[in-house]
Amino acid sequence: MDDLIYLDNGATSFPKPEDVYRAMDHFYRNYGVNPGRSGYDLCMESGDMVDKTRKLLCRFFNGGDPNRLIFSYNSTDALNLAIFGMLKPGDHAITTTLEHNSVLRPLYHLEQQGVEVDHVPFDIRGFVDPEDIERRFKKNTRLVVVNHGSNVIGTVQPVAEIGARCRRHGIRFLVDASQTAGKVPVDMQAQHIDVVAFTGHKSLLGPTGIGGLCVGDDVDIRHTRAGGTGVRSAQHLHLDEYPYRLEYGTVNIVGVAGLNAGVQWILERGLDAVHAHEMALITRLRDGLRNVEGVTLYCQEDLTNHISVFLFNVDGLEAADAGVMLDVNHGIACRTGLHCAPLVHEQLGIDKIHGAVRFGVGPFNTEAHIDHAVEAVKAIAMGQVERRRARARSSSANQG
Ligand code: ALA
Repeated sequence: MDDLIYLDNGATSFPKPEDVYRAMDHFYRNYGVNPGRSGYDLCMESGDMVDKTRKLLCRFFNGGDPNRLIFSYNSTDALNLAIFGMLKPGDHAITTTLEHNSVLRPLYHLEQQGVEVDHVPFDIRGFVDPEDIERRFKKNTRLVVVNHGSNVIGTVQPVAEIGARCRRHGIRFLVDASQTAGKVPVDMQAQHIDVVAFTGHKSLLGPTGIGGLCVGDDVDIRHTRAGGTGVRSAQHLHLDEYPYRLEYGTVNIVGVAGLNAGVQWILERGLDAVHAHEMALITRLRDGLRNVEGVTLYCQEDLTNHISVFLFNVDGLEAADAGVMLDVNHGIACRTGLHCAPLVHEQLGIDKIHGAVRFGVGPFNTEAHIDHAVEAVKAIAMGQVERRRARARSSSANQG
């Protein structure tokens, strides 16, 4: 465990800052009671922490009313709330081929109920053209959903330009900030975003089981669930006002406490500094592997608008096999396969070979980790090259 080099930060950040572990332990031991359900002091303290975190995150995303910062379990959960609550049969939605299944699958389900969906492809560098989105606007277009930073190739989409075009046409704009929140600015005002979906356990450095939506002041999302809110219990239908409108049952308070500490940790260091550290490591990785025989990189040339996600394959090896070799022989943890985003791999033409290998760099990775990873990939690639050469020699000897 001590020797493990963790390069799976795209899946979840690990380890978390010590502050996060401490805050969760302290909060849960001392204030871990149900917030907003009663009037005793401890309950008020617990509710206070949840409300402070709403405000903190609302400021973080430059949203409006902090009550419209609602907590859910993760971004899949948050995106389901938003997508099912914003579209109805007869509507048209536009999304991209960069999306994660947390967007693709709700939309596939809605297609079966009569929602039309367009998937806009990315260019050879991994970016979606805002014009390409605008060209597809129709009378019944209600929603544009865009993955801010790809969990597969790491490119960051021009959300401000997309948002401006949506705003001009009165179309709602939902941004999946799963991979970018905590890495690059997500600013609802400047980027014309109506709704942001986020998760706590990736680059916001909190624990799993907490995420949410930041909903713009003039945006209404229908409630697609119903249940306990702690207030107006005799009312039959779920409450319309935020945050109750989109929060169901007891909030994951220990998760909120950890998320609060994660966000504070980032703010203390500065988003730019955290991102710059990670991108320096990704650049080192890219430079170390870009001209290596037998290694193919995907969309890593232009690292300007990019997050610290690095996708590659070793020629002739299934990604999963490369992953096992990295783990067993080199002590590197990473993710392989389709990364829950099958259309990206389809567009890159690597779906039939079962995807690729992904390194996800986090704030606690070091240059030494990257140098080790570069050497490990080179060694695996060299092994493959030598095997191919040996096969070629033996087949030409047989022919001779
Ligand atoms: N969506 C996460 C990933 O990309 C789990 O690995």
